[in-house]
Amino acid sequence: MTSTATKPSGVRARGRAAIGARTLRTDRWWAYPLTTFTVLASFVGYATYAAIANRDYFAAPYISPFYSPCLSFHCGTVPGSHGVPHLGWFGTWWIITPAVIILIFPLGFRLTCYYYRKAYYRSWWLSPPACAVPEPRRRYTGETRFPLLGQNIHRYFFYAALVFNVILTWDAVLGFDFGGHIGVGVGSVVLVINAVLLWLYSLSCHACRHAVGGRINHFSKHPVRYKAWTFVSRLNPYHGNFAWASLIFVALTDLYVRLVASGVIHDPRVF
Ligand code: FES
Repeated sequence: MTSTATKPSGVRARGRAAIGARTLRTDRWWAYPLTTFTVLASFVGYATYAAIANRDYFAAPYISPFYSPCLSFHCGTVPGSHGVPHLGWFGTWWIITPAVIILIFPLGFRLTCYYYRKAYYRSWWLSPPACAVPEPRRRYTGETRFPLLGQNIHRYFFYAALVFNVILTWDAVLGFDFGGHIGVGVGSVVLVINAVLLWLYSLSCHACRHAVGGRINHFSKHPVRYKAWTFVSRLNPYHGNFAWASLIFVALTDLYVRLVASGVIHDPRVF
């Protein structure tokens, strides 16, 4: 017996009307997948460049979110990284850029995100590209097979992302420390906005909503979790907005630090 997941779907399915046209939609249904494809491709391209560049990621007191935390002693030895605080966990033998290993977790979090899944399934795989527009494949298997079965790991990436949020929030706090005295530069504000957007993106996550409010039968017996769930539920409808805003802004934050660290621009100080 053929499972529901592997039956032919869409306009070619048995019992469906035989419509010759690919779609009857006359609006610009392609605008959303095209825009999504362009933005995601731009981010992937920039993030790949930033991850392998391995330079210009620290301009005291600002560190790029792509390179925090710095894991090896090599962190402070490349151009545009002098004085960067590092953990030294990998000693001096670590030759891959810190960003390559660090990005595994934030990228894993985003790749498995429910919202991004819809976005890149539609724009990259055309599966389907839009409502009432059939996908090019004859069969639909959903997320029932490898590798898409692995999307369930999202909830674990969520916890990893929280660790990075704490680190980047601390980086934002350090962004006000100008050699022992408190100050505010444009970079300080940039790091704060970046941290806030990352928190909004993470806290509005569906896995977060389940973590704080799932698996309980009586909210009345868990008032703290009920308050947390209510708060997360208010953020949740805007998850897609936070996803885009935080994605674009984290790249802009890296770009800002990169331009300051490489001497292309100076960081204006408010005081
Ligand atoms: S659903 Fe998007 S980050 Fe969890």
